[in-house]
Amino acid sequence: MNILVTGGAGYIGSHTCVALLEAGHSVIIADNLCNSKRETVETIMQITNKEVTFYEVDVTNSEAVDVLFRNHKIDGVIHFAGLKAVGESVEKPLDYYYNNIVSTMVLAKACLTYSVNKFVFSSSATVYGDNEVPFVETMRLLPTTNPYGETKAMCERILTDIAKANPSFSVSLLRYFNPVGAHESGLIGEAPNGIPNNLMPYVTQVAKGKLEKLRVFGNDYPTADGTGVRDYIHVLDLAEGHVVALEKLTEGVHVYNLGTGQGTSVLELVKAFEEANGIEVPYEIVARRAGDIASFYADASKAKRELGWSAKRDIIAMCRDSWRFESNNKTEGF
Ligand code: NAD
Ligand code: UD1
Repeated sequence: MNILVTGGAGYIGSHTCVALLEAGHSVIIADNLCNSKRETVETIMQITNKEVTFYEVDVTNSEAVDVLFRNHKIDGVIHFAGLKAVGESVEKPLDYYYNNIVSTMVLAKACLTYSVNKFVFSSSATVYGDNEVPFVETMRLLPTTNPYGETKAMCERILTDIAKANPSFSVSLLRYFNPVGAHESGLIGEAPNGIPNNLMPYVTQVAKGKLEKLRVFGNDYPTADGTGVRDYIHVLDLAEGHVVALEKLTEGVHVYNLGTGQGTSVLELVKAFEEANGIEVPYEIVARRAGDIASFYADASKAKRELGWSAKRDIIAMCRDSWRFESNNKTEGF
């Protein structure tokens, strides 16, 4: 299939492009590079030894999107493009609502106009809110605590309504848990700007000596060791989940959790990182972070049952591959 991958130069998008190319699909990337680099497109081609068509466009721009659909016979869209920093979304809600929602509507409209019937959307476990664990796809969604999370819940509703009104338009809503890790080559991975907000990139930067020590946000949660528990998933497993979701997409709206079903605490992750890489990660316990939930992980059984997909890589592989990318990554000053 010819797949339009929006946000394909980004962290999850780039790994998914590699997986799509390796599965024999053709890839057209549309990315405005607001949180990524053009070189990543070259690296995707280097890793796979395959060609990729790249457009530097903003997918909220309906005229630019129309050109893509006119120039290519597109069989499906995977829509990764979006802004994702939770804290920034509280400060700049309009940017988040505009970018994430308008892009989804512009792309869905182009799909209807050009009879493109397969649409895969990057959603997030954040749409469950503070629900009981494990999170199951059939749960009633609770409000999220920030505009970023709301954009994901709203896009899910918009796409669901469009699919109901247009039965041939098939939608897969993929709710990611906590993506970490990097391609085994160490050539692509997550390279956040500034001080990372998320745990794994913070840990790798401490290991590299860029940051002094990890601050563990709270050890008084009702979890086994008191620190927050999450369902970390290797980005390559996530990427493979997209390929299967697209290939097996049938009419209607399908919601899947993409997680491992395993919870790992902050201290367990630190220990796994030290064991995988033989590097000590100094840390201190500090106060809880506002808005954090004690514990969440997926019920990952639906994706296994319906798509035959489950995550294969364990927490040690996630820590090893995250570190390999960080240690290869020549960011300024290092
Ligand atoms: P990322 O920032 O690395 O990738 C997003 C890409 O989209 C970037 O390359 C950026 O330049 C591009 N982009 C943003 N707005 C655009 C626009 N209007 N037009 C064209 N390109 C645009 O983020 P990621 O971690 O790869 O996340 C991909 C998607 O998955 C996002 O929608 C994100 O919300 C969602 N998601 C991510 C996580 C996570 O932890 N990384 C978890 C759940 C959901
Ligand atoms: C964050 C986002 C969420 C997003 C998810 C995956 C917030 C409030 N939520 O959630 O919307 O879907 O990432 O991208 O930002 N931790 C530390 N020290 C750190 C960083 C994190 O102790 O420096 C702890 C956190 O308290 C948490 C765990 O590590 O218990 C994971 O944190 P993080 O990687 O930020 O992910 P989420 O909290 O799940």
